[in-house]
Amino acid sequence: MSLYEKLANEIARSIRDGVLRVGDKLPSVREACASRGVSPSTVFQAYYLLEARGLIRARPRSGYYVNARGDCLPPEPDTSCPDGESTELAISERIFDILDSVRNRDVTPLGSAFPSPLLFPLPRLAQAMSAHLKRQDPLDTMEDLSPGNPGLRRQIALRYLIAGINVPASDIVVTNGALEALNLCLQAVTRPGDTVIVEAPTFYGALQALERHGLKALERHGLKALEVPTHPRTGVDLGAIETAIQRHAPTACWLMTQFQNPLGSLMPEEKKRQLVELLARHQIPLIEDDVYGELYFGATRPVPAKAFDKQGLVLHCSSFSKCLAPGYRIGWASAGRYAQRVQRLKLSSTLSASSPAQGAIAEYLEQGGYDRHLRRLRETLQAQQDLMANAIAREFPAGTRVTRPQGGFFLWLEMPAAVDALALHRQALARGISVAPGPIFSASGQFGNALRLNYGHPWDDAKADAIRSLGEMARAACQLAARPS
Ligand SMILES: Cc1ncc(COP(=O)(O)O)c(C=O)c1O
Repeated sequence: MSLYEKLANEIARSIRDGVLRVGDKLPSVREACASRGVSPSTVFQAYYLLEARGLIRARPRSGYYVNARGDCLPPEPDTSCPDGESTELAISERIFDILDSVRNRDVTPLGSAFPSPLLFPLPRLAQAMSAHLKRQDPLDTMEDLSPGNPGLRRQIALRYLIAGINVPASDIVVTNGALEALNLCLQAVTRPGDTVIVEAPTFYGALQALERHGLKALERHGLKALEVPTHPRTGVDLGAIETAIQRHAPTACWLMTQFQNPLGSLMPEEKKRQLVELLARHQIPLIEDDVYGELYFGATRPVPAKAFDKQGLVLHCSSFSKCLAPGYRIGWASAGRYAQRVQRLKLSSTLSASSPAQGAIAEYLEQGGYDRHLRRLRETLQAQQDLMANAIAREFPAGTRVTRPQGGFFLWLEMPAAVDALALHRQALARGISVAPGPIFSASGQFGNALRLNYGHPWDDAKADAIRSLGEMARAACQLAARPS
């Protein structure tokens, strides 16, 4: 990170923490140079960057002032309104087509589900793997079979402990990424034909898992998804969950309580507690997908719903894929009263996660430095969110709404109704830009005018151009629709 980016991040933190308030004047360039011991060009570049992030604004012949955050951003979307019916799924083909585009390096990856690999400490992980392999007793590989590497499970249990959650290492099953953990948990608590509550919109991987789970069992019916209204800031509507329980007798919930994909919503702590209590009253297990929990922008890590689980009904799943080691495919499930069932399903399906990858991550965590890496990653992501949100505000047509997540690396846009997100996705791909169109996040094909955009890649001219092109395409669709026929 260059000097001016560091300075910009420090000032951004002062704004976020309320030390610098809306309307406050920033020190003049001369004052900042003297107090920080940096050159005028460093201060100028930092101020330009903060301006591009929408955090400060220049007033002619007066200086730079703090903006109200979100002052110049479009409004947020409303709570979603799914139709309240359960849906059998046939969504996979559409999703595979779209995911294919993300593989191509020449495409600007706004549709990708991963942040840039350049944001991760890959050289240090490689060293940790080499150190681990040099020291490893060949017989240790047998110990790494499911439930997994004991050192890694201890480190994961320690991270729970730091978050104030008591999860014994013996309850943790290491998996091939969170997706396997989630699938195993789903298999542990449902049977084909059951109904599962999901958010609207939801992660397409959840919809694919529900669809496939039935097919695997050679039943005619997969699992049914029951989509519940979800607020872009505070997550699922608990009243709607209660009604859904009464009307549809669901067998499980699959929810993302923290930095939900794609909305970025974060359920407040009290709401998580109420959710766990509500489900406990009905003895319904909660599969909690928490892969983004470490990527918070606030002062402290929000706790997952698992923290309020007294009955072992929360199956908490996460991984290192989004915050440390993409490609290592190391995740885990802490499945409460279902832990043994999940472990046996793991043993009878893929046996274990890769032993060297488990060892490398255990070694890295033992060496320390993970929290320092996470702090840097969060700062970078927040800066990139500001830059992308401001570019969207400039380039997209009036009537566009955009989320303001407090963590993660996705923005969710709802464009005017005239814009067809699937058509825009095809058009964008022809110009070398990938996006994730809204309908892939819905069992019932809703969100036809929405997009999920990834800001987890360094902001550069290519990203700025991509947002400009997407905005142009959206505006053109609006103009076409407004033309008299
Ligand atoms: C919400 C959510 N859950 C789970 C996963 C899968 O995680 P992993 O790569 O660790 O399997 C993803 C990846 O996109 C995701 O967005």
